[in-house]
Amino acid sequence: MSQRRILVIGRGSLGSALISAASLPVDSVDLPEIDLAVRGQARDFLRRVEPDWVLHTAAIADVDFCEQHPNDAWAVNAEGTREVAEVCAALGARLLYTSSDSVFGKGEGPHSESDRPQPVNVYAETKLAGEDAVREVPGSIIVRLPWLVGGERPDFVSFCIDRLRSGEEVVAFTDYIGYILTYEDAARVIWALLADEGATGIFHLHRPPFLSRYEQAQAVARELGKLVDKPARVPRPTKMNLANSHGDHPAMRLLPSMEDTLRKLVRRAG
Ligand SMILES: NC(=O)c1ccc[n+]([C@@H]2O[C@H](COP(=O)([O-])OP(=O)(O)OC[C@H]3O[C@@H](n4cnc5c(N)ncnc54)[C@H](OP(=O)(O)O)[C@@H]3O)[C@@H](O)[C@H]2O)c1
Repeated sequence: MSQRRILVIGRGSLGSALISAASLPVDSVDLPEIDLAVRGQARDFLRRVEPDWVLHTAAIADVDFCEQHPNDAWAVNAEGTREVAEVCAALGARLLYTSSDSVFGKGEGPHSESDRPQPVNVYAETKLAGEDAVREVPGSIIVRLPWLVGGERPDFVSFCIDRLRSGEEVVAFTDYIGYILTYEDAARVIWALLADEGATGIFHLHRPPFLSRYEQAQAVARELGKLVDKPARVPRPTKMNLANSHGDHPAMRLLPSMEDTLRKLVRRAG
């Protein structure tokens, strides 16, 4: 990719990882203060900056909060994304949008990129509405991310490590399967996708083998102990195993096995 003005929207875990991992010859990578809930802020900012690429990672990503505050979730995740998409289309900017594997809430999977999503909660519905808006931007990329781990916030893997380290018992679902990826690996894959000028459409950042929560805990426990999980209060998909028809793409070959990710996280925890 030649010199480009790239804008990262979203100052969260992934946005920060993208800035840290920026590997392309970029003119600017910035995390602007835009409130997507305030109509016109994103539009005015983007018109002023005129980016070549927008990496849109901002969202209300707390599934329980979205269920309890659906108006906020729709305003930010769906309408805010629509505003970003519309201004990108008007400016001729390309847009990469971080969606979620949880748009597939039903069925056994593996779900392909062309399968019809069936969200089962407000968060996933609003992320899907964001996808619909982004699809209208020529050359846009939608990455459906798995569960991201290894950031500042506690997650299932760090929970397992902490519990097992302190000698506590841990119990986990055997029928909740999926793929996990660290924030930095997700950022690496995204930059590799951007390096391919021809990449467009939907990309599932998933690769088999998929492990259940129980198997993930076991992988951690092989070095440390065993684990407990609480039942989810908001309905969540249980079969998060997406087919990846772009498996031969150089960016997709960067996706690590879940075992490798778990091993890395246990080692990092010291
Ligand atoms: N983390 C995962 O496991 C996962 C899985 C699948 C997909 N994704 C998607 O990946 C993206 C990044 O996730 P993440 O883990 O980095 O989440 P995160 O740490 O919560 O970051 C999201 C960012 O969006 C910002 N935001 C929220 N409301 C906003 C608004 N009204 N206007 C502007 N910014 C707003 C948040 O700001 P505040 O912190 O100030 O609220 C936060 O900086 C999201 O699109 C998410 O849907 C994440």
